[in-house]
Amino acid sequence: MDTTHTAAPPPGPRGAALRVAVVVVAAGSGSRLGAEVPKAFVRLADRPLLAHALERAGRCPGLVRVVVVAPASHVADALALTAGVTVPTQVVAGGAERSDSVAAGLAAAGDDVDAVLVHDAARALAPPSLFAAVVAALAEGHPAVVPGLPVVDTVKEVDKHGVVVATPDRSRLRAVQTPQGFDRAVLARAHADAPPGATDDAALVERLGLPVVVVPGDPLAEKVTTPRDLAVAHAVLAGAGPR
Ligand code: CTP
Ligand code: MG
Repeated sequence: MDTTHTAAPPPGPRGAALRVAVVVVAAGSGSRLGAEVPKAFVRLADRPLLAHALERAGRCPGLVRVVVVAPASHVADALALTAGVTVPTQVVAGGAERSDSVAAGLAAAGDDVDAVLVHDAARALAPPSLFAAVVAALAEGHPAVVPGLPVVDTVKEVDKHGVVVATPDRSRLRAVQTPQGFDRAVLARAHADAPPGATDDAALVERLGLPVVVVPGDPLAEKVTTPRDLAVAHAVLAGAGPR
């Protein structure tokens, strides 16, 4: 009698030839930045943030397709910024919440890719090496991979009165960035089951009970949220800041 049981296979190498789509979400308004145009179209030195993001995302290993998710009012403007990308690229209109925009991008990413990387246009300087690190971890068989940096400040959890209820052990915390990489089918399942307004795709995969692995992040991938962040990004680009 055969007494062996079929267990779920452990993550294993999927080979170096993952077919990857990158979804760049750029459909937010940028209310905290407060510019006259949506944040992805705000200039950083000579080009909009989205152009910087596309230049770097376009060098992702295994890349076969790019989807840009833009505000409905800026689809043509976004298309004009995709000229330098060497793989087929399309622009789709986003939604009210970031998760709506990711879902729109995912629908356009195609089911012929193995992996989808979701990237914030606002993380305009995230380097190609970070994309490569995420793809490498996916190729090892992990279904979900996010870059993260150690948290430098002590973090407090507070109640509605501002009274501290907990102090998590800082050494166990990571501030996560994008690009976040997923097995395509896993991300599709996660979004099909998503509560409205989710801000983090990896959290949706966690809800499925699947592991999400954190790889080392990069200070260059910090998000432009406020005018100060834009000034910092400008200094970094000019070589005056940390590399
Ligand atoms: N995003 C999106 N669709 C939305 C909201 C956000 O595609 N409905 C994108 C943004 O364009 C950005 C990324 O998600 O690249 C991260 O979001 P965030 O930094 O919050 O950008 P905004 O929502 O534009 O900014 P704010 O929250 O200050 O309004
Ligand atoms: Mg936002």
